[in-house]
Amino acid sequence: MEPQSAEGPRHVAVIMDGNGRWAERQGLERTEGHRAGVESVRQVVRSANELGVGWLTLYAFSSENWNRPKHEVELLMSLPEEFFEEELPEVIERNVRILSIGRRDRLPPSVRASLENAEEKTAHNTGMRLVFALSYGARGEIVDAVKRLVRDGRVDADDIDEKTFAAYLDQPEMPDVDLLIRTGGEQRLSNFLLWQVAYAELVTLDCMWPDFRREHLEAAMGAFGDRERRFGLTGAQVRSGGGS
Ligand code: FPP
Repeated sequence: MEPQSAEGPRHVAVIMDGNGRWAERQGLERTEGHRAGVESVRQVVRSANELGVGWLTLYAFSSENWNRPKHEVELLMSLPEEFFEEELPEVIERNVRILSIGRRDRLPPSVRASLENAEEKTAHNTGMRLVFALSYGARGEIVDAVKRLVRDGRVDADDIDEKTFAAYLDQPEMPDVDLLIRTGGEQRLSNFLLWQVAYAELVTLDCMWPDFRREHLEAAMGAFGDRERRFGLTGAQVRSGGGS
């Protein structure tokens, strides 16, 4: 399926929160919640692809998550590898391209290798972009972009505008986020895609991530469709289709 439907969100980003609570409520270890969350990842990838989403970015591991207990970090680090091993054939079949953002130099070598393998094997796919944010923090991404820009040495300070700057972010081709979904009932951005969410519509859901299914994505996309996006204009300007 080709990216982007007519009116739907082109770029959907998801803060997959609530795994720990989902598990604790059932008397299970928190890590069981993360394991169960992988099924929701499978489902959201399929559903987003079928619903014509162009870019899907999933917050799988934040730079702050390194401070969690060692066994939880180890479990979280094992999930992308397992996912790529099991899902790569279907991802390829669906013409989905896998990408990542975040500090990949901090990832264990085997995780990094499996990620690079998935990126390589899907590099020529032209359908939905599936981006895993791994060891990712938005402030870190912005700092890294500044470093690249300065090291590049080709851009005069007076020539830096938003477009030039964005070209130095982790995925230069990544469009702005249209719809940001957060599960788990909290109303926070948690250092996720701070540059790219400038004009995103935010939908927070009470459902815990392991319970997330296609109907939740459809509900969030429906809510997005009902919003009037103004980009700083007045409602009247937006409805008349002009900015002047
Ligand atoms: C936040 O829930 C979630 C995470 C820190 C990890 C999210 C990871 C997955 C859903 C699996 C990723 C899978 C792949 C294939 C990359 P939490 O633990 O903070 O939940 P809580 O707020 O209830 O404690």
